[in-house]
Amino acid sequence: MSFPLDIVILAAGKGTRMRSDLPKVLHPIGGRPLLQHVIDTARELGAGQLLTVIGHGAEQVEQRLTGEDIKYVLQTEQLGTGHAVQQALPFLRDNARVLILYGDVPLTRATTLERLVAAVNDQQMALLTMTLPNPTGYGRIIRDQQGHVEAIVEQKDATEDQLRITEINTGILAATAQQLRDWLPQLSNDNAQGEYYLTDLIAMARNSGVGIHVEQPERVEEVEGINNRQQQAALERFFQRQQADALMVEGVTLMDPTRFDCRGTLHAGRDVVIDINCVFEGEVTLADGVQIGPNCLLKNCTIGAGTRIEANSIIEEAQVEASCTIGPFARLRPGTHLAEGAKIGNFVETKKARIGAGSKVNHLSYIGDTTMGSGVNIGAGTITCNYDGVNKYQTEIEDDVFVGSNTALVAPVKLGKGSTVGAGSVVTRAVADGELSIARGKQRNIQGWQRPKKK
Ligand code: UD1
Ligand code: MG
Repeated sequence: MSFPLDIVILAAGKGTRMRSDLPKVLHPIGGRPLLQHVIDTARELGAGQLLTVIGHGAEQVEQRLTGEDIKYVLQTEQLGTGHAVQQALPFLRDNARVLILYGDVPLTRATTLERLVAAVNDQQMALLTMTLPNPTGYGRIIRDQQGHVEAIVEQKDATEDQLRITEINTGILAATAQQLRDWLPQLSNDNAQGEYYLTDLIAMARNSGVGIHVEQPERVEEVEGINNRQQQAALERFFQRQQADALMVEGVTLMDPTRFDCRGTLHAGRDVVIDINCVFEGEVTLADGVQIGPNCLLKNCTIGAGTRIEANSIIEEAQVEASCTIGPFARLRPGTHLAEGAKIGNFVETKKARIGAGSKVNHLSYIGDTTMGSGVNIGAGTITCNYDGVNKYQTEIEDDVFVGSNTALVAPVKLGKGSTVGAGSVVTRAVADGELSIARGKQRNIQGWQRPKKK
């Protein structure tokens, strides 16, 4: 691009209809604040300068969204969209093209905006419009006999005839910094809402002999803003469906793309199968052939090729190698590492645990702060007692250990290679290689014992 690009994002409004303590632009779509979506798109466009006009909840917005390239401009009173852009005027670079975006319109495609910006020059500004079956609430695009745009009229200022126009203002426009400097100071608030309307720029351009180039987005969702929770939910579904479609194009099977949620980034290999109601958060990588059952939550984890995750499992900050089996109802907490072919079964919780190749923890166990070798078998109901109420301790389980059911391993403790622990043991001391440890009350059978009888 021959001109530098400055982008102004309007995000000072209150968002009353969200009925929320959180500023509207911080509400999420796909786990990312609305404003973050707009900022990411602006970066994609290669904005040289990113000016964000904030007002309501300014402090929260500034705290939440960081990046050296974002400059915040405070609009202390919300006197209208034109007034909002005025606040950014002093910061615009003289020879820049300027694109105006909205902090509550999250899903505009960069390609649509590129077309808009490309049309701007000294003789022409650019406007993004859309034709809607129900244009209620939006500013209407007024065209002359030749079809050239001559003005925008807001809903509240429109005549009966104008209200019948179905071409609406999306709010998004682009002009040169010079044009904005010429026109914005001339705005008046003599209108139905007593606001300084950015939209009055269009008539000013027309009067100065500057042309108005019009572009339209490919889909209406690109220009939909969020004012209430219903609209947020609707755009969330649209966003998720787009992500689902992209994954299916890459060769992923989604049992139902309408019951898929990714609130982050999901990288998936070939022939991955994802059943319904799974949620992906943060950065998740699924290698080829991974299969995930229904109702699973995966957050910041990598899953190796051919691993199966059965229904209702939760995996967070964990690394799983190839050909493992997890769940149903398993919980892998942060710091879990499963080597190839490991098995974690139902009602098993792991935390900061390295489970060696082919080792099995199949039922009802807690394995925390543990390193486990390969070929280990942990019986049902085994607990690593890693916490004395103050400090955490390590459990070390070497290769080929067999732990009987309902065993408590009181850390710090070590089970040597090939050792065996009898069921029901409370192990408090190290077991050497190959030893059998039985740490439980000895069984006593009393002959001829009589049950008490009712008096
Ligand atoms: C605006 C347009 C309208 C268009 C519609 C599209 C004007 C006058 N009207 O109307 O033609 O159809 O958007 O949704 O521009 N904002 C500020 N400071 C302010 C006022 C608003 O930052 O003083 C921000 C808001 O946070 C919001 C955006 O600007 O993100 C739009 O403001 P809003 O009040 O929703 O404008 P509309 O009345 O919807
Ligand atoms: Mg609005």
